[in-house]
Amino acid sequence: MTAEYQVDGAVAVITLNNPPVNGLGLSTRRGIVDGLNKALADAAVKAVVITGAGKAFSGGADITEFGKEEAYREPHLISVIQQLDLSGKPTVAAIHTVCMGGGLELALGCNYRVAAPGTAVALPEVKLGLLPGAGGTQRLPRVLGVEAALNMIVSGEAVKSEMLAAIPGQTLFDKMASSAETLLAEAKAFALEVADRRPLPRVRDLPCKHPQGEAYFQFARTMVQGMSKNFPAPVRCVDAVQNATTKKFDDGMALERETFMQLMMTPESRSLRHLFMAERAASKIADVPSDTPVREIRTVGVIGAGTMGGGISMNFLNAGIPVTILETKQEALDRGVATIRKNYEAQVKKGKLKQEKYEERMALLSTTLSYGDLKNADLIIEAVFEELGVKEQVFKQLDEVAKPGAILASNTSTLDVDKIAAFTQRPQDVVGMHFFSPANVMKLLEVVRGKETAKDVLATVMKIAKKIKKTAVVSGVCDGFIGNRMIEQYSRQAGFLLDEGATPQQVDRAIEKFGFAMGPFRMGDLAGNDIGWAIRKRRAVEKPDMKYSGTADRLCELGRFGQKTGAGWYDYQAGKRDAIPSKLVEEMIEQYRKDKGITPRKISDEEIVQRLVFALVNEGAHILEDGIAGKSGDIDMVYLTGYGFPVWRGGPMHYAGEVGLFNVVQAMNRFARNPHDDAKFWQPAPLLAKLAAEGKQFS
Ligand code: NAI
Repeated sequence: MTAEYQVDGAVAVITLNNPPVNGLGLSTRRGIVDGLNKALADAAVKAVVITGAGKAFSGGADITEFGKEEAYREPHLISVIQQLDLSGKPTVAAIHTVCMGGGLELALGCNYRVAAPGTAVALPEVKLGLLPGAGGTQRLPRVLGVEAALNMIVSGEAVKSEMLAAIPGQTLFDKMASSAETLLAEAKAFALEVADRRPLPRVRDLPCKHPQGEAYFQFARTMVQGMSKNFPAPVRCVDAVQNATTKKFDDGMALERETFMQLMMTPESRSLRHLFMAERAASKIADVPSDTPVREIRTVGVIGAGTMGGGISMNFLNAGIPVTILETKQEALDRGVATIRKNYEAQVKKGKLKQEKYEERMALLSTTLSYGDLKNADLIIEAVFEELGVKEQVFKQLDEVAKPGAILASNTSTLDVDKIAAFTQRPQDVVGMHFFSPANVMKLLEVVRGKETAKDVLATVMKIAKKIKKTAVVSGVCDGFIGNRMIEQYSRQAGFLLDEGATPQQVDRAIEKFGFAMGPFRMGDLAGNDIGWAIRKRRAVEKPDMKYSGTADRLCELGRFGQKTGAGWYDYQAGKRDAIPSKLVEEMIEQYRKDKGITPRKISDEEIVQRLVFALVNEGAHILEDGIAGKSGDIDMVYLTGYGFPVWRGGPMHYAGEVGLFNVVQAMNRFARNPHDDAKFWQPAPLLAKLAAEGKQFS
């Protein structure tokens, strides 16, 4: 059992001990009940203290139990809390460091709570599309007041214990300990102090009211609905807290349970839970053990102070790691540093960054024109022009100056990392670190594993990614890696849709309604349509039979590269970003259809969404088969953090499972029969066909 029992005089102590955060798995739940029974049977014990070993009181549910049978085995957390309610001897929760979810519900089931300062207290279930299912919505408002409790339950955010202790009239904490170190001793002393007091106070017996009653909840519901349009859970949290004010405790509990079970079945919660697990799994690499020793990264070099180099540098400066940027000319360095300054100054202006922090960060930045100044760097990231010849020059020089064991990374978005590694005598130290633009903002980092990349290099890069707050996903070497290889198929479909009768605005609207942050044409205008143009020109040589709509090329021939040229798929007014439908583009597309002999037809939004999303799914399945991505969840993380895929749909591969792979394959067969589309592409990837035939999903 992962809870320990000890007796110290008249006080029994039950210590949750299930690292890393004392998750309330079956063996911990059993341990609590077992300890409680022992305490009740021992006449010498007058009070019980429950606390947590190590770095938490309890972080709540044990995530390793998610989806497993143990999660449903008695004693459930509700049953454990019922035992506490009925104990007859006073129970005191000694709370420290982390007290979240089921951990907080457990504490609320005790008669008293003593908290250490600095404890992070939360009911984060809403972040998984759920609500607290073991009485959190009924007990927290009773001790904290309705409004403070509702804010915590609806946001899922953690609040520090001392802030909660300062809420007037709160009875969440009976006592604040002076420190985490003295917490247990203070909680034991408190337990002795209250040992003989009767009746035992129970949170469930406290009154719960809001002075404005229904009017307040109407207001709260409207606010919450506005802020969480695509998620059912937050509004259901409001309902549950309202029940605490209008219903008997047991009835409120029953309704909370019922809502919890309903929310568990929603696609939104399934998506959020999938992403929660996928995010944790992404940092694990099948053949790189978690205890692989990592190299220390104390200083970083960045080659190239352009769009990416500047943003990449900011990530490290933000994390307190010194950066040296190298360029070929002083002007380029000055321009790069000025852009970094401008970005930080904008943050200071908006009140997002303190002036001192800005200065601290800038003090960590140095610049150079000489490779010799990078000789002490532990990690060097190249972000120069996307030309293999330029990369060759850079990596050969790095090979000469970098110290042994330094990690040499390339931010290339399309070039072969193995070829780049071969420019050096140390291919084992070379890796791809593919940041997304703007690199100081976007969460995604594709870590590109070359065929010779050493395991400790990968482990180090995954660790440093966490430090600079990126979601790192490992990709094998291929053209476009995971994200861009898939987006090419999505963009091709967007083009075919124009050929067949859709307008850019219809395509964008349909996919944005599905939930994408931005449709493909608005995206093209933002990123620059010339990027795709260059790729298509290269493709025309590499894969001459790859079919594309010619509309994008015609657009570029008109010089309409997007926002930067003031015109793209849409028109733009000077200095503004609003996309205005363009008559000229419409005529250009019509002319293209005429030239190709295509009679336009009306295309439904449903078809648009399916063709775009299923194109991602089919290419994603190929990527899994080829071993470019290790798990389907990795692909989902890439799309969520780098491409604006809607969170509540869980990523393309998860979404395909929600639709049913059988249905996805049927739709693909239909698209393959369309003479204006690419029949060959729509042949389901063998993995997809196999899983669909077996009635399975991507795992
Ligand atoms: P950029 O043109 O804005 O910046 C490149 C910088 O490298 C320039 O300042 C240039 O002076 C400098 N440079 C060129 N040759 C050099 C050399 N031999 N030594 C030192 N500095 C040199 O280009 P950007 O957009 O920053 O792209 C850089 C790399 O990042 C490319 O490999 C690109 O494919 C990749 N990338 C770009 C993304 C984007 O959205 N712009 C996204 C992800 C990756």
